Amino acid sequence: MELPNIKILDESNKILRKKSKDVTFPLDDETKKLIDDSLTYLEMSQIDEYIEKYDLRAGMGLSFVQIGILKRIFVISEELENSEFKRYVLINPKVISRSEELIYVGEGEGCLSVNRPVTGIVPRNARITVEAYDIDGNKFTIRVREDIAVAFQHELDHLDGILFVDRIDKKNPFKNKDFMREI
Ligand code: NI
Repeated sequence: MELPNIKILDESNKILRKKSKDVTFPLDDETKKLIDDSLTYLEMSQIDEYIEKYDLRAGMGLSFVQIGILKRIFVISEELENSEFKRYVLINPKVISRSEELIYVGEGEGCLSVNRPVTGIVPRNARITVEAYDIDGNKFTIRVREDIAVAFQHELDHLDGILFVDRIDKKNPFKNKDFMREI
């Protein structure tokens, strides 16, 4: 498999701080191809053979802003068993409800745009419900939990110009740890 030509911007790029804009339908072919290429890239980045071959960092989610396009689109590819992946494509997503329960990823969150070690807690809702459009412009509602809920919130933040490092308390990176559940 050939690695798609996806150039991911680093956090030093100011575009990552901008708010992305809603997309109109129908999507053009270029946008559809970028969605597909992004998913392929994410999947290859989670397969050892390609990590080695192309010197990749593993990632499961990508927002269009990370490739320099300020459109409210993000994709996630979750590795299931046996190198099978579950794909999520969310266009113009809106959070319609959040659980009160908060969680955080014990080993920390990662981002393909943040190329440095980061420690600290990123508080996330344990469950969220999101309304969005699919690639054909059909509206759907999805409820996600645990690690996928974290991935969704991480990508939703990207669409508003927020990076996960912004959510870590600067003075006390492990603030309120005992009030949240580690996953
Ligand atoms: Ni990210």
